[in-house]
Order: sequence, then structure tokens, then C-alpha cells
Amino acid sequence: MLGLGEVDEDHRELVELTNRALATLHDGLGSDREEQVTGEIVSALKAHFRHEERLMEACDYPGRAAHRANHDAYLRQVDELIRDYRNRRTSLFHVADTLLDWIFEHIEQHDAPFVQFLLARAEPAS
Ligand SMILES: [Fe+2]
Ligand SMILES: [Fe+2]
Repeated sequence: MLGLGEVDEDHRELVELTNRALATLHDGLGSDREEQVTGEIVSALKAHFRHEERLMEACDYPGRAAHRANHDAYLRQVDELIRDYRNRRTSLFHVADTLLDWIFEHIEQHDAPFVQFLLARAEPAS
């Protein structure tokens, strides 16, 4: 939890969707459901990145170019991962596991400093 409600809410949703992907495996719901949930993850990820990028622009965050570049690189990796999954070169378990690792690493390295900057700016000057 970074302390900024709307961003924390997005992150919670991303983790929940990824866990739901794992649950489709556990419950043996089949490839249609797996396809659906991976599509939902990619859409939620894109929407979340746009959301953060709008917030960074609005507060003129100095680290926004690097943060955005990390989002873009990450989306390219996710596309590749999903393609491998669709071509049966990797498992959905590996996709979900990799996504969770990336999400947490990105939150720690990129989102946390940005949210700290945003919250510090929002505090009234004393
Ligand atoms: Fe981010
Ligand atoms: Fe984020």
C-alpha cells in the first residue's frame, strides 16, 4: 500500500486478476477462460499505466520519462509473454508468476517514489 487510494486500488485489482488467472488453472476451467483472464490482465495493466502517467503529467513529476519508459518496456515484455503462452511455449502459471514478480518490483522501484513525491506535494506548506 503506497497511501494513494486510486493507485493502491489499481494495484489491488491487478494482483486480484493475476490470482484469478491462477485460480482458472487450479479449477481446470479450460483455455477459453484462461484466454479471457489474460486479456483482462493486459487491459487492466494498460489502463493502470495510463492512469499513473496522467497523474505524473498533472503533478509534473521529474521522474516521469523514466517511469513511462519502464511501463512501455514492461508492456512489450508482457505482450511477448502472452504470445509465448498462446503458442504454448510457456504455461499460464509461468505468466502469472512472472507478472506478480514484475508488478511488485515495479511498485517498489517506480511507483513508490512517485507516490511519495505526489503526497509530499499535496501536504500543506508549513
Ligand atoms: Fe508505474
Ligand atoms: Fe503502478
